[in-house]
Amino acid sequence: MLSLCVQVFAVLVVCTAVTANRDISYMFRAWNMVDQPLQEQLAVVYKEMDSLKHEQVVMKQKQEALSKALTHCSQKPIDTDVEMNLTSLQTGSSHLLYTLTQDGDEGSGEDESDKSPDPCYHYTMLDHAWRATNYTTKNVVCDRHVQWKGWYRLFYRGKPIQMPERCVRKERCGTHVPLWLVGGHPRRRDGVVTRKLCGNWKNNCCLFKSPPIQVKACRGNYYVYKFVKPVACHLAYCADINTLVCGKCRKSESCISRDQITWMCRKNKRVKANVHFFVTYPASISGKVNRIMYRKVYVNQGGAFSTRTGIFRAPVSGVYQFFYSSQTGGSGATDLWLVVNNYWVAVSHSNVQGSSSFGNLSTYMTTLRKGATVYVTHNRGRSWANNASNTIVFGGSLLMVRKI
Ligand SMILES: *[C@@H]1O[C@H](CO)[C@@H](O)[C@H](O)[C@H]1NC(C)=O
Ligand SMILES: *[C@@H]1O[C@H](CO)[C@@H](O)[C@H](O)[C@H]1NC(C)=O
Ligand SMILES: *[C@@H]1O[C@H](CO)[C@@H](O)[C@H](O)[C@H]1NC(C)=O
Ligand SMILES: *[C@@H]1O[C@H](CO)[C@@H](O)[C@H](O)[C@H]1NC(C)=O
Repeated sequence: MLSLCVQVFAVLVVCTAVTANRDISYMFRAWNMVDQPLQEQLAVVYKEMDSLKHEQVVMKQKQEALSKALTHCSQKPIDTDVEMNLTSLQTGSSHLLYTLTQDGDEGSGEDESDKSPDPCYHYTMLDHAWRATNYTTKNVVCDRHVQWKGWYRLFYRGKPIQMPERCVRKERCGTHVPLWLVGGHPRRRDGVVTRKLCGNWKNNCCLFKSPPIQVKACRGNYYVYKFVKPVACHLAYCADINTLVCGKCRKSESCISRDQITWMCRKNKRVKANVHFFVTYPASISGKVNRIMYRKVYVNQGGAFSTRTGIFRAPVSGVYQFFYSSQTGGSGATDLWLVVNNYWVAVSHSNVQGSSSFGNLSTYMTTLRKGATVYVTHNRGRSWANNASNTIVFGGSLLMVRKI
């Protein structure tokens, strides 16, 4: 008598008592602790820690930059900003370059293919009070005189701010023709997008069509812009004073506006997801079948199971529970394995003598990332079913959505 206990991060404990010693050797071959979801979980935690550390570095640098800016300002009142000419913009206290190491990067994917650093962490701070939409001044600036290079993040007296997504009255933002972003800001999952720019003049919100810029939404409710020389003088990139509130949004919130004028923080909606499936195989199976092509579908809420491939694919990250069964159809050992992300994680094993038949149902619960695959393999033996018996079954449910 040999007892085998397999523990999968405290969620599932399978204890198997197997009488025939010769049958279990392969189990150890298939079992590799390093491959298990626990490791994945830890990796996620480490990544999260890294990203927090990284955020801390960013905050610290920002704080240092701000205090430096403040000592500068005590000698020179901030309102003289507008009198600064644009060549001094390059060395002025409001121009701070962030070049941080990337190890805390969240690894969103799109920036990894090309080796260019993530602009969310490599940007220049652009903090000019005169860029604000409520700034009316006779002094006129022209952003065409600036040697734009790389990515910029807008600030208003040290507070994060965004470009306007609406037409701005002329003679604002410290210039004649204020530039605003057409088509709004992107979402984080959009990555880097290109947006058109318009400049308001003579009651025409887009009389000046300036060259498009690239924009990216970053984690933490802010945006970076890849500014370029505007089409003419005097045009300048604007900062919408109404979006100051966005800098106060929490991580679990987004900054929204219906009219592009009034902005507010709103709690992100939880993803509602109903994922349930129950499928069966309507005939007997004998020997090795790499993937059981369950084809009788009773439930496929959410459409995550594919009868074409026999694979269930997690549509969202979360905690899932699966079950799968067989009915032995002859003397000897029968094994069905649940395969998660190509790892054999749980077996439904039965060993019968003579003409008796056993039905065996196994369950498994795990946390999966979006896109994870789950299927069942018939590794050996014989399983009996006909088109009405529902003895070879596979099913599962999403228990809760959880970001990992
Ligand atoms: C612009 O700034 C530079 C450096 O501060 C200064 O030398 C130059 O005279 C200024 N030009 C104008 C037109 O104010
Ligand atoms: C613009 O708005 C900000 C924030 O509400 C305010 O502090 C500032 O005084 C305003 N500036 C002008 C010129 O009205
Ligand atoms: C059902 O499967 C479990 C897990 O593989 C196994 O321990 C048990 O012996 C099986 N039951 C029968 C009657 O074979
Ligand atoms: C199930 O199998 C029986 C006998 O083989 C057959 O008569 C019947 O038409 C089948 N039913 C379906 C729904 O395929």
